[in-house]
Amino acid sequence: MNGCIVGAGYVGQPLGAVLSSRYNITYVDINSDLVRSLSDHKPTIHEPGLEDLFKKNKERISATTDYSAVRNSDFVMLCVGTPQDMPWDTRYLEESASEIGRNLSKGTLIMVRSTVPVGTNRRLASIIERESGLKAGEGFYMCHCPERMRESKAIQDILNQEKIIGGLNRKSAELGAKIFDDMGIKTRIVSSPEAAEYIKLKTNELLATHIAIQNQMARECDALGLDVHEIREMVGSDPRITCTSTFIPGPGVGGYCLTKDSYILQKTLNEKGLHSKLIDVEREINNSQPLYVADEVKRMVEGGTIGILGLTFKGNTDDLRETPIKRIIESLKEHTLRIHDPHADPEEVRRFFGIEHVGLEDAVNSDLILIGADHDFYRNPEVQNLLRNRRVYDARNILDGDNVKKLGVGR
Ligand SMILES: NC(=O)c1ccc[n+]([C@@H]2O[C@H](COP(=O)([O-])OP(=O)(O)OC[C@H]3O[C@@H](n4cnc5c(N)ncnc54)[C@H](O)[C@@H]3O)[C@@H](O)[C@H]2O)c1
Repeated sequence: MNGCIVGAGYVGQPLGAVLSSRYNITYVDINSDLVRSLSDHKPTIHEPGLEDLFKKNKERISATTDYSAVRNSDFVMLCVGTPQDMPWDTRYLEESASEIGRNLSKGTLIMVRSTVPVGTNRRLASIIERESGLKAGEGFYMCHCPERMRESKAIQDILNQEKIIGGLNRKSAELGAKIFDDMGIKTRIVSSPEAAEYIKLKTNELLATHIAIQNQMARECDALGLDVHEIREMVGSDPRITCTSTFIPGPGVGGYCLTKDSYILQKTLNEKGLHSKLIDVEREINNSQPLYVADEVKRMVEGGTIGILGLTFKGNTDDLRETPIKRIIESLKEHTLRIHDPHADPEEVRRFFGIEHVGLEDAVNSDLILIGADHDFYRNPEVQNLLRNRRVYDARNILDGDNVKKLGVGR
C-alpha cells in the first residue's frame, strides 16, 4: 500500500518513518529544504531512533513538494499545524485539504492527525468534496485519529499508544483502524470525528492542568520550607491521586501542544457559549512559572554571570517552540548569560534567543547555573562532575547536593 504524509514536521517525520516499515511512504511538505533533506533520507529533527528508521526503510521513503503524490496513495495522513499565535485558525489545514481534494483518487482514505477545534474534520471533508467532486464516506473515506505522541519518545509512542479513531462513517473508521491493525498497533474506534477531536483537546488540557498543580505545589513548598518531591510522593500514595507521581514541577509549560491546545478548547467552548475558568487558572499558573523561576534565580545571584543548561521546552528534543526558557532569559537580561544545549542548533539558538550558544565548559564557568531542560546529556557523570562545585538552581530535579537549590525545595 502507498501512503502520503502531508506536513513533515515533528509529527509527520516519525509517523512516516514508523509506517514505512510496512507501507511505501511519500512525505508532502511545502518546505523545499525539508523535502530535499528527507529525499536524502536525512530527518531534520532530533528524535531518538528516527535516523535508524530512515536508514533501514530508505527504499520505501520519498519526499516531494508536489501534491500529485496523493493520486497514487491508498491513504493520506494530514499532519500540518495551525498558526502559533492563533492555534484555532485552521487555514493551513484548509489549504492542504483543497490540494488533497484536487489530487484525490476514488477510494482514498484521509486521516487527520493534527490537533484541531471540534467540528474541523467535517469542514475539511466538505472542502475535499468540493475540490474532488467525490462524496465523503463513499467516494473517499475520512477519519480523525489525533496524534498523541510525545517528542523525544515519538517512535515508541507511535508504535505503542492506542490509536483513537473517529470516522465520518463506520467504513471510514474501519479503514483507518486497519492501517494500524495490520502493523500490530492497537486501535479504538470512537463514535465520531468530533469525539476524537474533543478527546485530544481535553487530554492536553488535563495534562497542562496537572503540570499547573505541580507548579503551584512547588511554589507553596518553597514558601513553607518543604520539599515538593517528598510531598508529591506522599500525596500520590493515596491511590485516588495519580497525577503527583507522573508529573513534576518545572520552569513552565512549553512545546507546541500543551501551550496552545487549551486555547483551542477554550475557543471551541466559547463558540458554544461556555467559558472554562479551569483553563484560565491553568494558563495563569503555567504562564507565570518562568517568571517565578527567574525571580528565584535572581535572588541567588546579584549581577554576575548565569549559565543556562538546556534551552528546549523539555529534555531530549531540539524543539525550541514555546520553550519557557525564552521568558526566563528575557527576565534575566540584566545578567551576563551563557547558554548551552546539546541538541539545539547554535544558529537557531542565536536567532531565537538573540544570544550566542557557548560550549558546555564556558556555560558552567558562571556564578550560577540554571538547569532549564532535563536532557539525559546533563545526567552523564562527566557533566555532573563539572557541576559538582558550582552553585546550581535546578528547575528540573536532575541534580542533588549541597550546592544545588531545587525548584520547590524550600530552605
Ligand atoms: N509536536 C508534537 O509533539 C505534537 C504531538 C501531537 C500532536 N501534534 C499536532 O500535530 C500537528 C503538527 O505538529 P508538528 O509539531 O508536527 O508541526 P510542525 O510545524 O513541526 O510541522 C508541520 C509541517 O507542515 C508543513 N506544512 C504547513 N502547511 C502545509 C501545507 N499546506 N502543505 C504541506 N505541508 C504544510 C510545514 O512546512 C511543517 O513542516 C499540530 O496540529 C500539532 O498540534 C503535535
